[in-house]
Amino acid sequence: MSLVLVTGGAGFIGSHTVDGLIELGYDVRILDNLQKPVHFKGKPSYLNPKAEFVLGDVRNKTTLESALKDVSYVYHLAAYQDYLLDFSTFFHVNSVSTALIFEIMIEKKLPLKKIITASSQFVQGEGLYKKRNGEIISPTFRPIDQLERGDWDWKDEKGNLMEWQWTSEKHSSPQNAYAISKYSQELITINFGKRYLVPSVALRYSIVQGPRQSFYNAYSGACRIFNLHYFFDKAPTLYEDGSQERDFVNIHDVVDANILVLQDPKADYEVFCVGGGKSYTIKEFANIVARAHNKEHIQPKIPGEFRIGDTRNTCSDISKLRGLGWEPKRTIEDSVAEYLEYLKEQTDIDDILEYAEKTMKQLNVVRKVKTV
Ligand SMILES: NC(=O)c1ccc[n+]([C@@H]2O[C@H](COP(=O)([O-])OP(=O)(O)OC[C@H]3O[C@@H](n4cnc5c(N)ncnc54)[C@H](O)[C@@H]3O)[C@@H](O)[C@H]2O)c1
Repeated sequence: MSLVLVTGGAGFIGSHTVDGLIELGYDVRILDNLQKPVHFKGKPSYLNPKAEFVLGDVRNKTTLESALKDVSYVYHLAAYQDYLLDFSTFFHVNSVSTALIFEIMIEKKLPLKKIITASSQFVQGEGLYKKRNGEIISPTFRPIDQLERGDWDWKDEKGNLMEWQWTSEKHSSPQNAYAISKYSQELITINFGKRYLVPSVALRYSIVQGPRQSFYNAYSGACRIFNLHYFFDKAPTLYEDGSQERDFVNIHDVVDANILVLQDPKADYEVFCVGGGKSYTIKEFANIVARAHNKEHIQPKIPGEFRIGDTRNTCSDISKLRGLGWEPKRTIEDSVAEYLEYLKEQTDIDDILEYAEKTMKQLNVVRKVKTV
């Protein structure tokens, strides 16, 4: 069977993808540097023993070159993530490594059959909004002074609320270093793929949920932080007014999407959004987590805090991938239940909550509404 290289294969999406590929009979090689803080405690125990594991950095050309030996397909999932301020690292890890895969393929005349790169919903930024007169616009980001007044929503010049739209892969408006690097990965993957005739695909994942999500990423994903709070009978804090809308996709649906685009030539040279297809407010999501813990009596706190760089509403239009026959099959309740099981298996949950709270403070991205 063909050999598949999964960069970042020790991570959340990577390790589940590795399991899915092995189940289908593919041979798999993982290239992963076990980046901290993602792998705060070293090599994860969930790694599939049938996969070959190569410890190394995707920025290192020699390492990447030997990892690509005899490979037919590449999933490029390794990435630098989070709300961090070392902007250049996003481009070193994410963009340079993607370019290197193509560079090595051409130099060594590698017979790669497909390259699939992980992009992100972040590429669409705030997405599209509709004005009262029907005009569709693409706003950039909300000014800090607006947020400091506790004025969260997007409004037109007359002060009328604008309606958020399900946004497709046709729209790109990356606003931070991570998103810009992800967009560059899409451009490299699709354009070099076309130019050098290697089928290529970029997948814009929405917020992916499920077990094995690192407890130690600096950016606190809602699923992790809400679950930790309810676990310890604490009320989680919702930013803004908790009415921000998002779509969430289950990890197993993501693996199905990853494998579909590997096997279906109709996916070649295309970008696809991989989302949950339903929108939830953050408040609704917190209630779902509370229900999973049987702790609905603990109401989340809404103290008028906001996070610099957050979008107000971001939901992906998944009709293009649905056109290939893919459908998100698992519910948000499935994702939360699976995550909770995973959390209960951990032996160091106290450390995890303490770590999450400390790193959020250190990042200094949370601000408070100014009272006059
Ligand atoms: N999880 C999500 O909700 C989500 C959403 C949108 C996009 N994505 C993208 O999907 C991909 C996988 O994300 P994830 O959630 O599994 O993240 P993760 O942090 O769990 O996994 C990433 C893996 O990449 C490895 N890695 C990081 N830098 C590396 C380097 N320089 N060399 C080699 N390996 C390196 C890490 O050790 C880790 O195992 C990423 O490209 C991410 O940007 C994820």
